[in-house]
Amino acid sequence: MNILIIGGTGFIGQRLLRKLHQQGEKIFLLSRPSSLEKAKSLFKDLSDITYIRGDIQNTDLLTDVSQADTIGEQIDCLVHLAAVYELNVSPTEAHLQNVIGTQNVLKFISRCKGLKYFHYFSTYAVNQVLKGKVYESDLISESSLFYDEYAKSKNHAEHLVRKLSPKSIHTIIHRPGIVVGDSRTGQREKENGPYYFFNFIKQTKKLGKLSEKLKYLPLPVQKNSLMPVIPVDTLVEWSSLIIQHPKERALSCYHLVPQKVIKTKEFLQSSIELMNSPLQIISSPITGFFSPLFKVLQLPEQLVFYMRQEAILDRGQLNQDYPDLKEPDYNKYLPILIEEFEKGY
Ligand SMILES: NC(=O)c1ccc[n+]([C@@H]2O[C@H](COP(=O)([O-])OP(=O)(O)OC[C@H]3O[C@@H](n4cnc5c(N)ncnc54)[C@H](OP(=O)(O)O)[C@@H]3O)[C@@H](O)[C@H]2O)c1
Repeated sequence: MNILIIGGTGFIGQRLLRKLHQQGEKIFLLSRPSSLEKAKSLFKDLSDITYIRGDIQNTDLLTDVSQADTIGEQIDCLVHLAAVYELNVSPTEAHLQNVIGTQNVLKFISRCKGLKYFHYFSTYAVNQVLKGKVYESDLISESSLFYDEYAKSKNHAEHLVRKLSPKSIHTIIHRPGIVVGDSRTGQREKENGPYYFFNFIKQTKKLGKLSEKLKYLPLPVQKNSLMPVIPVDTLVEWSSLIIQHPKERALSCYHLVPQKVIKTKEFLQSSIELMNSPLQIISSPITGFFSPLFKVLQLPEQLVFYMRQEAILDRGQLNQDYPDLKEPDYNKYLPILIEEFEKGY
């Protein structure tokens, strides 16, 4: 297949690009002009990548609009991962990058005469306020309450994808959980998600004797809070399989989370123990106390939702379409993530 990747220099994208290239796919990579050198250096060991300059904030997507028809005829598949992924992103940036950016990608798609498959990277957080079982077909209304601008913009973008993807192509929505480093090496480029928390534990250890007095750590984690963590290599394995063996239906959507999701308290407490800290998490209801506490801990306030969420992400469609996925083993990879984290960059 000829695959155009947008967002191929990012944390997930660069690994997905390598995997698809390794499997013999022909890769076209759309990069912002300012990131082109970085892209070429990242993939200098890979032959025959076609680099294209562009920006999802351009209404025409490509810097050189005259290339659009030629590229549109050449590619069979487009994978759109480009986004801003930060919990404390401003409403304007989230909207420009994630909503308008996706709208521009959809506009470009309508010009692609050879395109058969469109893979869009969404997130499990698009259904932020739902409780109980959440299905892959669920998508809450755009006017729902959201706890952060990232989740809100990704919800709006997924609505656009569902509404505006041409009916003549197969649209596949990937909804990853919280993506952490590589399960075999611990390698990662970003320190968000649980890494905020690992950082905090690391800081408390620097307090020396005083840290021994800190025994209990109150967090807004409930008994049934769940943490749908997925190592980046597992995600890439699953997404590349989906990209290479897509189902021939108009719209598919997959929750890319482990079959058995770990409880948040267990994940965080195990991390604390692996970091040799004496802290004990105690579950606490949300009070005004958390706002200053999170500031001191240098945790974004928006993390509260991610710590409390209890939704059970149903994987019915994923299990039916791809029944042989290899599940990540949390007991094996968590020590590797922590060991690599403790080394620093
Ligand atoms: N990481 C997670 O935990 C997670 C979880 C669920 C869903 N997701 C989704 O998965 C996707 C990839 O996430 P990630 O963690 O890999 O993100 P990332 O590391 O921040 O990478 C973002 C990518 O998008 C590109 N990009 C940003 N703005 C662009 C623009 N205006 N035009 C063209 N390219 C642009 C970046 O290119 P530059 O090199 O130019 O910066 C980079 O390649 C996102 O859609 C995210 O919402 C991520």
